[in-house]
Amino acid sequence: MILSIESSCDDSSLALTRLEDSKLLWHAKISQEQEHSAHGGVVPELASRLHAHNLPLLLQRAKEFLGGKTPFAPLKAIAITTRPGLAITLLEGLMMAKTLALSLKLPLISVDHLKGHLYSLFINQLHARFPLSVLLVSGGHTLIIEADSPTDMRIIAKSLDDSLGESFDKVARMLGLGYPGGPEVEKCANLCPAGEQYPLPLPLKQKSALAFSFSGLKNAVRLAVAKTQPLSQELQAQICAGFQTTACAHLLHKVRAYLEHARVRCFGLVGGVSANAYIRTQLEILCAQFGVELLCAPLEFCTDNAAMIGRAGVESYHNEEFVDLRTLDISPHTEILESVG
Ligand code: KG4
Ligand code: ZN
Repeated sequence: MILSIESSCDDSSLALTRLEDSKLLWHAKISQEQEHSAHGGVVPELASRLHAHNLPLLLQRAKEFLGGKTPFAPLKAIAITTRPGLAITLLEGLMMAKTLALSLKLPLISVDHLKGHLYSLFINQLHARFPLSVLLVSGGHTLIIEADSPTDMRIIAKSLDDSLGESFDKVARMLGLGYPGGPEVEKCANLCPAGEQYPLPLPLKQKSALAFSFSGLKNAVRLAVAKTQPLSQELQAQICAGFQTTACAHLLHKVRAYLEHARVRCFGLVGGVSANAYIRTQLEILCAQFGVELLCAPLEFCTDNAAMIGRAGVESYHNEEFVDLRTLDISPHTEILESVG
């Protein structure tokens, strides 16, 4: 089995994945939502210190799960998220990975976090499916990625400004809802009766470019909030529903444009925002119109976790993609190349 470690943002997570069949044997995560909620977003310094505290606790739990006199004996490699993410939080995970690799004499596997999200679709599955296109919607990214194989992936659409997850978080903050904002906005939007959403402008409506943009929509929410003070619960729900449906309509508009021109059989929806039930349902309807199969990760693996890093790591292990402990470093950028039109 391999031990995987994830610490690219505000989730400390470890997992054990069996090499023969990619079965997830054990996984655990300690989120830092409570600690960051007081600040309305992730504070990197705080996140890094919490990883330093939480990762050893998780390792202790992994050790207890494995049991016996030599609990780490079944390990064949350590997989670690090295990019993209916050430098000082990635480093906490990398330090633990290098220490384990050195002391247990195990090879290291470097995993790109975005590839990890893609592999969240194949946790507990023997084979990943390629070719595959995915819509990755997270706190850090809004992308369409085309993947012909595990080693041939390219970004073909990205956000020109903010990511969708960040926009959900900012909208929640403007409305005085909790952090992380995505689930809060979704809950609040569900209180709005159908057809009563606050009207907001569709981003990049007239632009044919395959790209996303959320800053204008975010600003429209800011103006709506300023205009409608004091904010009743009813209006809060209408604004949340307005934001969610407009952001989703924007995603669908661009994914539709993509599906019209690309030959896609299988489309994936991944990343933290993919936990959103409304977006999942709407994308399902769109894909059905094109005869495209939609794959979504189980809800517990939409947001950051080490299970997806372990699943990606298994693929790399079988391809013998090991990295040198002496030179392995972190990077804020993804290794997936862009071919944005
Ligand atoms: O993938 P993720 O855990 O972290 C990054 O890689 O960035 O995504 C976190 C993001 C946060 O912005 C959070 O608000 C959003 O995912 N999110 C949601 C939902 N659950 C989490 N957004 C909309 N609806 C949700 N149900
Ligand atoms: Zn992520």
